Amino acid sequence: MVMLAPLLALAVLGASDTCGDARCDTAACPCGCECGNATDPGVCYVPAEKAPARCDEEPVAAPTVLVTGATGRLGSLLYHRLRAATHADGASAYTVRAFVRSVDKARSVLSCTKCDASEGIYIGEVNDTAALRVASLGAYAVAIAVGASPSDTPAQQKATEFTGVENQLAALAQTANLAAAGGAAGLRVVLCSSMGTTSPPGSGYGDILFWKLNAESFLAASGVPFAVVKPCGLVDTAGSNSTLLVGHDDTLLTTQPPLIARADVAALMEASLASAAPRILRFDVCSTPGAPPADLATLLAKAEYPWQQ
Ligand SMILES: *[C@@H]1O[C@H](CO)[C@@H](O)[C@H](O)[C@H]1NC(C)=O
Ligand SMILES: *[C@@H]1O[C@H](CO)[C@@H](O)[C@H](O)[C@H]1NC(C)=O
Repeated sequence: MVMLAPLLALAVLGASDTCGDARCDTAACPCGCECGNATDPGVCYVPAEKAPARCDEEPVAAPTVLVTGATGRLGSLLYHRLRAATHADGASAYTVRAFVRSVDKARSVLSCTKCDASEGIYIGEVNDTAALRVASLGAYAVAIAVGASPSDTPAQQKATEFTGVENQLAALAQTANLAAAGGAAGLRVVLCSSMGTTSPPGSGYGDILFWKLNAESFLAASGVPFAVVKPCGLVDTAGSNSTLLVGHDDTLLTTQPPLIARADVAALMEASLASAAPRILRFDVCSTPGAPPADLATLLAKAEYPWQQ
C-alpha cells in the first residue's frame, strides 16, 4: 500500500495533460511528450516551451512495388535487388511484394517462411485478375518478369505475354491505387520484353515475340509511365562485369555473342524504377566484354530518343 500512493498521485497529475500516465523509464513517451522533468526523471510530460510535435504524421512506408514472375531466373534477381535497395539514410527504398505461381518455389527462391501475404508473397497466375488485384492493392508500380516458354501452347503464350500484361496493368490501375498515386501518371510499369520484335516471329519462339510486341504497344497506349527493357539473349553470368550497349530496332542483334547477364537486366529494371521522373522508355540492351557502366541512370538517358533528353 505504501508503494501505491506515489503512483496514484502521478496518475492524477498526468491525467491533466495529453501524456496521460505514460512513464519513460519503461518505454518511449507518446508523440508530443518529453521524458523526465526536474522532479521525476521517469515522467512523460508536455513540454511548456516548445510547440508539441505533430503526432498525426505516421512514418511514411517505402512505396510498394509488385514483382511478377518473382521466382524466375530474372524475377528473383530483381526481387532481391529491390529488397536490398536503400536510400542514402539506410531506409528501404521499396516495400517489395512478389506474385508467384508456386509457394514451394517462393520458399526456396525468395527466402520467405510463411510465403503468404503477411510476407508480401501472393500466389496466382497472370490470368487470375482477382489474385492480381489483391496483390496490387497499395502498390504504385509493377515490375513484370513473367515470360512464356517456346514449349507453351499458342494460347498460353498469348495469355502470359499479352493478356497477362493487360491484366497486370489493370490491377495496378485499380481505383484505390489511382487515387493514392494521383492518377495514372503516378503509377509505374517496368517490363522485361525481348529484342527480336522487328521481324515476324521465326521458328523456335512460337508467337512469343509477336505477343511481346503487342504488350509493348498496349503499355505505350496505357497512360502509365513505363520502361520496356528489350534484352538480347539472357545468361546467368555475373552482373556489373560487361559493357552495356543500348539501342533500338534490333540493330544490336549483330553483337557477338548476343548475350547479357540477367543480373544486368535486373539492375536496369531497378534503375528505371528509381528514376524520379516518369519515364517513357523502350530500348534494346546487349553486352560486350569491357568495363561496366559507371552509372545506370546515364545509360538509361542514352537509351532515350534525342527529343526526350
Ligand atoms: C489460368 O490458366 C490456368 C492454366 O494455365 C488455368 O488452370 C486456370 O484455371 C486459369 N485461371 C483463371 C482465373 O482463368
Ligand atoms: C568478367 O568478365 C571477364 C571477361 O570480360 C571474364 O573473364 C571474368 O571471368 C568475368 N568475371 C566474373 C566474376 O564472372
